[in-house]
Amino acid sequence: MDQKYVESTIELMDFIQDSPSCYHVVANAATMLENAGATRLDEKESFKIEAGHCYFVVRNSSSLIAFRMPEGKPTGYSIVAAHTDSPSFKLKENPEISNGETYTTLNVEAYGGMLMAPWFDRPLSLAGRAFVKESDGRISERLVDFDKDLCQIVNLCIHQNREANKGYEYKVQKDMLPIIGLGKQTGAIRSIVAEVLEVEEESVLDTELFLYNRMGGSIWGLDDEFFSCPKIDDLQCAFSALKAFVTSEDSASSKIQMVALFDNEEVGSSTKQGANSDFLRQLTHRIGCAMDWSFDERCAIQAGSFMLSADNGHSLHPNYPEKCDPTNRPLINGGVLIKYAGNQKYTTDAYSGSFLKSILKDADVPYQVFFNNSNVTGGSTLGNISTTQFSIPTVDIGAAQLAMHSPYETAGTMDTFNLTEGMKAFYRA
Ligand code: CO
Repeated sequence: MDQKYVESTIELMDFIQDSPSCYHVVANAATMLENAGATRLDEKESFKIEAGHCYFVVRNSSSLIAFRMPEGKPTGYSIVAAHTDSPSFKLKENPEISNGETYTTLNVEAYGGMLMAPWFDRPLSLAGRAFVKESDGRISERLVDFDKDLCQIVNLCIHQNREANKGYEYKVQKDMLPIIGLGKQTGAIRSIVAEVLEVEEESVLDTELFLYNRMGGSIWGLDDEFFSCPKIDDLQCAFSALKAFVTSEDSASSKIQMVALFDNEEVGSSTKQGANSDFLRQLTHRIGCAMDWSFDERCAIQAGSFMLSADNGHSLHPNYPEKCDPTNRPLINGGVLIKYAGNQKYTTDAYSGSFLKSILKDADVPYQVFFNNSNVTGGSTLGNISTTQFSIPTVDIGAAQLAMHSPYETAGTMDTFNLTEGMKAFYRA
């Protein structure tokens, strides 16, 4: 395997390891952008924007939009969008269940639609955010990551469930509660949150904590073709988009280059920070106001815009080839995956598809095409939802991967590089 592919994969796996929740994804993205010279704007303050500069805005600490103003009058927005969240189990308040003072388990609910079986029998931890009442009365927000093997969802042994290998319907409230300790441990989570944040227990007002898989990333296969790690969907796209954005500084494009990372794709996007919010539309209005463009000019700039909705798709699975479309058979390491769906769950049409294919061909970036097998329902993503809020030609892309929505997914070692190169070519266009 060529070293440039291995290096880009290691960089991605490091980003993922440092980003155990959507809040960490956005914090790390903000650091990447600040290191690249971007200025943070606060939605609560008036925007001051100058040509030739780079900015970013964070909403709810879990969504982020960055943009770079061209030197001259822009002709449109070139947007790459991805999502920051991943399917997981979310801790409820008062989470400790004492089970007759034998074991303490944690009360969780599902966030998104995950493969449940691979969550069993592996070290897990908790990460997210907490709100703390400070001594001066202010409420402050803190990132939380215990960064230790803390709990585990433990299987029932085969001897007590002889049917286990004949298919089993997992119930979250019964089967998926992780063990965290022995005996009765009421208040344990609040206590360790306070400890890790170095604050008094009473000052912890509220938390949003998600289980995450502690297993580190791995590059594997005869020729290191594959890599596996948590959250490849959609951090492979989010990270590639950020990389492409921060390295597109001298592209001399007449477009406003933009990267939009939305939260809550896995639960339908209809939140104040999701793709179905006013975040993107309102930001473009505010850029227009700050630049003193008329409504007519702003509409013209919108009409000259284009979006790549970047979210991973499925590779053909060697054990289940019948699940794949008969004529479009995407494979890992096959390059940028362009996704189509007749029901318009994917936004790509012949116009937007041609536009991107032409860019990728000119840049020598490989691409391949995904359609659902017509007898398989398939998933959805954020592109068609974002389009209802800010309507511009859009292509759905991603990398081909396996085991989507497992806590340990698999993708191709070459594809982070391919995706990043494809996004860079898009920003240059
Ligand atoms: Co996704």
